[in-house]
Amino acid sequence: MTKTIDMKALVLAGGKGTRLRPLTYTGAKQLVPIANRPILSYVFDNIADADIKEVGVIISPETGEEIKAVMGDGSFWGLNITYILQAEPKGLAHAVLTGRRFLGNSPFVMYLGDNLIGCRISDFVKTFRSSRVDAMILLKPVDNPSAFGVAEVDEAGKILGLEEKPVEPRSNLALVGVYIFSKAIHKAIDKIRPSNRGELEITDAVQRLIEMKRPVKSFILDTWWLDTGKKDDLLAANTVVLDEWFKRSLSGAIDDSSTITGRVTVEDGAMIKNSTLRGPIVVGNGAVVEDSFIGPFTSVGPGAVIRRSIIEHSVILAGAEITGISRLEDSLIGRNAKVVKCLHKHEALRLMIGDDSVVEV
Ligand code: TTP
Repeated sequence: MTKTIDMKALVLAGGKGTRLRPLTYTGAKQLVPIANRPILSYVFDNIADADIKEVGVIISPETGEEIKAVMGDGSFWGLNITYILQAEPKGLAHAVLTGRRFLGNSPFVMYLGDNLIGCRISDFVKTFRSSRVDAMILLKPVDNPSAFGVAEVDEAGKILGLEEKPVEPRSNLALVGVYIFSKAIHKAIDKIRPSNRGELEITDAVQRLIEMKRPVKSFILDTWWLDTGKKDDLLAANTVVLDEWFKRSLSGAIDDSSTITGRVTVEDGAMIKNSTLRGPIVVGNGAVVEDSFIGPFTSVGPGAVIRRSIIEHSVILAGAEITGISRLEDSLIGRNAKVVKCLHKHEALRLMIGDDSVVEV
């Protein structure tokens, strides 16, 4: 019997998070909640499900402490987490270089901490374990390949080449943020140089593996994949997760004049008064919803307060307050932010909006 190789995971949770500003001025993008759970929780669910125990988490000096405080030591998932500081966000391959001591000679799953995929990685891990390849990459057809790492494959699925954010992409196959590597990737990383944008690119390292004639296998992902780096992707992720993974569960206090339809989760300590909730929805611990309608695909964060409002397809983060808003849709409202309709005032908007915010009126 062959001994199963000890596989590790490297989760990349450093980076700059520029695309999710202003939310990322005050917090890590990998902790932004999807259906009231940090994105990293879904990443850890998937890693634990694949029976991987040793997980290195790359963190940045800016948001690392917050990530450690929220995610802890991994015991919730039965994982053993080692946090690894990357002093500067110098690229995905640089993150692997930073984690080299932790990784040793083990094969590992590299998982981007802001990515969500609609399937378990355990089958890919099993395939990797039973095949003698040095890299396995996941691909997904996309409409805008120029925004991603792109792979060119032949008809048999063999990878011919990879490019990072090409101006003229040779295919529509984007690299999904989950990869599996053998220790051979370290040699390839040693041979690459920073790209035009000054980063050590993982696409260049995989391209180097191909040039070194090392076997690289690809799979086309047939479920959804979301890189949650932007507002619309985040709303899409919230929609999909609420739709596919949430059940009806009513633990909070709901009064008799409220109507709850469909898969609605009202967490312990939440209060629903004289309101209609039409699922899928999650309302977090300590939140209050009063005289309101909350429509499908909405997450109301812990301690948020919604009064006399109609909200659909939105993510309301912890402690936010929405009062008297007759219709709020497709919106992402940050922690402790307030959106309040003032009565008895002439028709004027009064705004205090943080840097990089967007208001559509
Ligand atoms: P990206 O989203 O590609 O980069 P970024 O975080 O700098 O974001 P933005 O484009 O919004 O400025 O990174 C993918 C994941 O990898 C994300 O979870 C951050 C992480 N990462 C690192 O841990 N180290 C790095 O050097 C880089 C570039 C990213």
